[in-house]
Amino acid sequence: MDRIASAAGFRSAASRRRGLAKAMGLLAGAAVLCATGVAMAEPTTGRPVFDQVSNMFQPVSVPAAKIRDLALLVLAICGGIFVVVGGLIAYTLIRFRARPGDEHREPPQVYGSSNIEAAWTIVPVIIVVVLFLATARTINELELKEPPESALQVTVVGHRWWWEFQYPEYGIVTANELHVPASTPDAPRPTFLWLESVDVAHSFWVPRLAGKTDVIPNRRNTLWLETAQPGLYLGQCAEYCGTQHAHMLLRVYVHTPEDFARWVEEQKAPEAEVASVAAGRDLFQRTACINCHAASGTVADGTFGPSLSHLMSRETIGAGVAMNTPDNLRAWIRDPQTMKPGVRMPDMKLADHEVDAIVDYLVTLR
Ligand code: CUA
Repeated sequence: MDRIASAAGFRSAASRRRGLAKAMGLLAGAAVLCATGVAMAEPTTGRPVFDQVSNMFQPVSVPAAKIRDLALLVLAICGGIFVVVGGLIAYTLIRFRARPGDEHREPPQVYGSSNIEAAWTIVPVIIVVVLFLATARTINELELKEPPESALQVTVVGHRWWWEFQYPEYGIVTANELHVPASTPDAPRPTFLWLESVDVAHSFWVPRLAGKTDVIPNRRNTLWLETAQPGLYLGQCAEYCGTQHAHMLLRVYVHTPEDFARWVEEQKAPEAEVASVAAGRDLFQRTACINCHAASGTVADGTFGPSLSHLMSRETIGAGVAMNTPDNLRAWIRDPQTMKPGVRMPDMKLADHEVDAIVDYLVTLR
């Protein structure tokens, strides 16, 4: 009887070992797959696209760099805890695993140990205090309630599901694509954002430039960024705000000071009135388009939807759902719900020739 029981015990210990080996194998396989995935994401030359546009570990702006440093400190501490705890668990599992003949033995039972209890209380308290102090310091460095003297101020308004950008200093209103100047050693030029919402809570997040900040109705939050590196940086609304939350994308273009001045001049310039698209312009002004959209040089002054002034200076439409090409504009106006289901813009039930006329007019808004 004893022999049978211990043989059964031995078999189950062996099968437990096989289970452990299988789990280790799976874990190793997953690690290899992850590594391959990362390698495959790398284009043959240069850094992966992901790094260039939205990798929070590649900050190009002062606040984003401070947040990255804090995140690395937290990661290092948590990684240390993981290694110690995981290592102890792995050691215990292997060293004290069930062996044949263990069936009727009980390990020593420990009740109360001041030393052990003090250790597992004091060490975590020290870790929490260190994390708290480091976080408080970073928050304090990043909180700016008032814009610095030299800052460009932009009011960001969250809408379902697009972003409005107002530049009061220049009288510019645009949408979804934020243009800001880079700082130079001689002329520091941070950008200071006032964040507002007209409907629900959104969150403004461009990982390479700054931390995530909520955009809340009836409240003005603030955010600043400062970078010396011109380029395009992508972001995303980071607070669930309804059906098209995932299509509330952000594009931030950082320009050299000269290029930024040129962009400002282009946006301030009146639209050229192109005679050949007068029919489309008239149709636009006679339909309900103007209740929601503004367009300089017309009677349209709606604010419910994005301003269409200088529409063709934007690279995307629908807050990033499609590239801004005449074909996509046509498809969008014919039925916005196909490209962005749930979007507030309705199908205007226009005839094909009317859609064509309006697109012909829109592509002259440069
Ligand atoms: Cu706006 Cu999510």
